[in-house]
Amino acid sequence: MRRPLVAGNWKMHGTRASVAELINGLRQQVVPAAVEVAVFPGSLHIAQVVEGVAGSAVVVGAQDCAIEAEQGALTGEVAASQLQDVGCRYVLIGHSERRTVLAESDDWVVRKFAAAQSCSLVPVLCVGETLAQREAGETLAVVGRQLDCVISALGVDVFSKAVVAYEPVWAIGTGLTASPQQAQEVHAAIRARIAAESGDVARGVRILYGGSVKAASAVELFGMPDIDGGLVGGASLNADEFGAICRAAGS
Ligand code: PGA
Repeated sequence: MRRPLVAGNWKMHGTRASVAELINGLRQQVVPAAVEVAVFPGSLHIAQVVEGVAGSAVVVGAQDCAIEAEQGALTGEVAASQLQDVGCRYVLIGHSERRTVLAESDDWVVRKFAAAQSCSLVPVLCVGETLAQREAGETLAVVGRQLDCVISALGVDVFSKAVVAYEPVWAIGTGLTASPQQAQEVHAAIRARIAAESGDVARGVRILYGGSVKAASAVELFGMPDIDGGLVGGASLNADEFGAICRAAGS
């Protein structure tokens, strides 16, 4: 059985005060132990969040890491080893906002993925198609390519210690959510792609859905056989809404 994971991506939001308030709200949420909960604050607030959630079941991740695993001369970047040192467990890799706005290449995605794992962080590999790609019928090809970059460079076994997040770009922050059937189709294809290399890895890997997930849509999405939880942006900034999404993953 795969343990459901609900991950809150706080993106470029938060001040010390609002982060303290959000931590407080999170600590009050009752979530079944069967559900793993992770939050991904901006790097500035990671240490504050690690301290704030200490003693709770919530774990912390980062939204990105450098292409180099170890500290060094790379102005403005944060090494996976530094994230591990401050208490991160997970790191998002290849979020579509980074792929598109910051022109992050597949090559960088692979290097960051490898850097994360070399420091015992669990990468959450984000994949997903744009609206134009979906309308052109290219969804499975695009997602397959994003996955293949990692598989061909690092081998399929890396997914025994990684998570995949399917996030259709057109659903992120737009209020549009993929229907449970649309999402399931892509999740099943991702699992099948991994299964073509290793059935064991495919059975164990958690595949999260992301893109305007709300408490109201979560139950149906998480009820699909290949959806193992969610990567939640906007709704993760509200502790009660996020708590409700976490509970949906346990129902
Ligand atoms: P959203 O963001 O829930 O605000 O659509 C999801 C994400 O980008 O991870």
